[in-house]
Amino acid sequence: MASPDIDLTVYPDECDAYGHLNQASFIALFERARWETLARGPGMDFFTRQGAWPAVRKSVVEYHAPAFPGDVIRFSQVLVHLGRTSFTLRQTARRLRDDALIATAELVFVCVDAQGRPVPVPEALPQVMADKPLAGNLRRVAVNGVNLAVDVRGQGPAVLFIHGYPLDHSIWDYPLAHLEGWLRIAPDLRGMGQSDAPDLGYSMATYAEDLLALLDTLGVERVVLCGLSMGGYVAFEMLRRAHERVSGMVLMDTRSEADTLEGRKARDAAAALAREGGASAIADSMLPKMLAPSAATENPALAERVRKMMEATPVSGILGALGALRDRPDSTQDLPLLTRTPTLVVVGEQDQITPKDRAQAMATAIPGARLAVVPGAGHLTPMERPEATTALLADFLTGLGLHS
Ligand code: MLT
Repeated sequence: MASPDIDLTVYPDECDAYGHLNQASFIALFERARWETLARGPGMDFFTRQGAWPAVRKSVVEYHAPAFPGDVIRFSQVLVHLGRTSFTLRQTARRLRDDALIATAELVFVCVDAQGRPVPVPEALPQVMADKPLAGNLRRVAVNGVNLAVDVRGQGPAVLFIHGYPLDHSIWDYPLAHLEGWLRIAPDLRGMGQSDAPDLGYSMATYAEDLLALLDTLGVERVVLCGLSMGGYVAFEMLRRAHERVSGMVLMDTRSEADTLEGRKARDAAAALAREGGASAIADSMLPKMLAPSAATENPALAERVRKMMEATPVSGILGALGALRDRPDSTQDLPLLTRTPTLVVVGEQDQITPKDRAQAMATAIPGARLAVVPGAGHLTPMERPEATTALLADFLTGLGLHS
């Protein structure tokens, strides 16, 4: 059973002197939507029947736009993490009239008994609060205690597409749709897209272990890795752990070096910004560097798509990724050892986050690697120049001679 969206109307008595829905009423509406979900499903006494009361332990609410009397707000609720005694719910509030994102809330609940002692989450909760069915080719795969949303298409030798931060698998939409003759696997990393976002510390090792377990679950032994930016850092970690499973590698808009001291401080500052201002503050700070400088005027639709993707990232996933980015190991010393991993290095000519000279240095250090610079692209080459990027990928993959 999928949890239904709940539509609630804003009344004048819930608004402040300027006519905006006030904060206290907003929190009450979020709560009303949760109770409505139970009322329309298993009944409002769902938790008390099981002797488990969901006590809020933490809540992060992000306000994106004001709402006014008469607005109908559509609330959707998704269970983003299920632990033994705790669970995390993400709620999204959009205005029905124009689909504007009004606010998001992320709440961690601990189930307690009448004495306040933690008790197991009711078994039926995932059915009650089930996520809506995933769109398109996405399916849910459980690995290492989390559910990853994964786009799996086609048949043939496998290619694993690993996105960057704070993004999701859809940056690969074009190559996923067009690289026929290959088994294309594109997960949302934990904490991003529609995957679970547990409120725990993450590391590059966590992501790499998730993806190796994903390959095991899908029955894929060998794979070509294609990682963009943070996805490249994850690819390096996968190589360190299981180089025998990697038949080739594409490093796109990425670098091999660890963060400098200054870079590490910037990660901590970004974490403070995320705690304070939520995903939208992160999106505001990153968007200008994500795309080629001309994109804002020449391709506003793309800029808007990237902003929405970043804004949809749960704060717990942003904080987890920032820790993983800050503490990632340096992979530069591994590059000369990649003698048996055919590698293509791709970079957008105008990449401001992982610039061309970093790509050039990697291509020089990896034996036999080739460098391709994509004109007109910034940091998100597969979205900005999808056809040129996909042609490069197709050419490289064919050259690996993996089709018997
Ligand atoms: C990414 O695009 O994955 C990140 O911006 C990489 C980074 O910040 O190092």
